[in-house]
Amino acid sequence: MSDTTIVRTATTSAPIHEVLAERWSPRSFDPSVEIPDEKITAALEAARWSASASNTQPWRFIVARRGTTEHATIVDNLMGFNQVWASSAQVLIVNLAAATTDDGAPLRWAQYDLGQAVANLTVQAHHDGLHVHQMGGIEVDGLRRAFDIGPQLEPTSVTALGVLGTPEALTSDVLREREVAPRSRLALDDLVLLNA
Ligand SMILES: Cc1cc2nc3c(=O)[nH]c(=O)nc-3n(C[C@H](O)[C@H](O)[C@H](O)COP(=O)(O)O)c2cc1C
Repeated sequence: MSDTTIVRTATTSAPIHEVLAERWSPRSFDPSVEIPDEKITAALEAARWSASASNTQPWRFIVARRGTTEHATIVDNLMGFNQVWASSAQVLIVNLAAATTDDGAPLRWAQYDLGQAVANLTVQAHHDGLHVHQMGGIEVDGLRRAFDIGPQLEPTSVTALGVLGTPEALTSDVLREREVAPRSRLALDDLVLLNA
């Protein structure tokens, strides 16, 4: 466990599982460290076994390891600052929602279910000593073209998965400041509207 992780542990009003308390979204990944394929597979398995409405499993993933043309293509289709930091992540995953059935009927909970699957992936990855940073700042049309994604699938987000790097490794002042900025959340009382 690095100092960075300890400092960024969530402050909670009751104890929560340490993986959940210590999970956070870094922008500095150490590209020099290899991730065993087994850990990537475990993260994807965690997503696979997520709950979904009527067990429709409306999640699909495009997985690209650093050094492949596919990884570079995903980086090219990130927005703004995401392009700057995410290239050092060992793995980039395009998260796709299967938003309709084969007959074209809408699957109302597809994005909700995809989000849950990515959350499961995140928890497994952190349990395995990795870090995850999700991105909504993506070029949807560019990803569609690059990976020949049809209308039934919606590129929704990209997950950066990797080994935590140091804040100093980030190349911009803004990113370094964000990396060590205090984490904040709304108070529990603001979220729980009724607790009878
Ligand atoms: C759906 C989604 C989209 C996000 N998009 C971006 C993004 O485009 N760029 C970025 O740097 N962080 C992005 N984030 C990360 C959030 O900013 C981050 O989770 C939030 O600030 C809370 O910080 P924490 O994950 O360290 O607790 C996204 C997170 C989620 C869940």
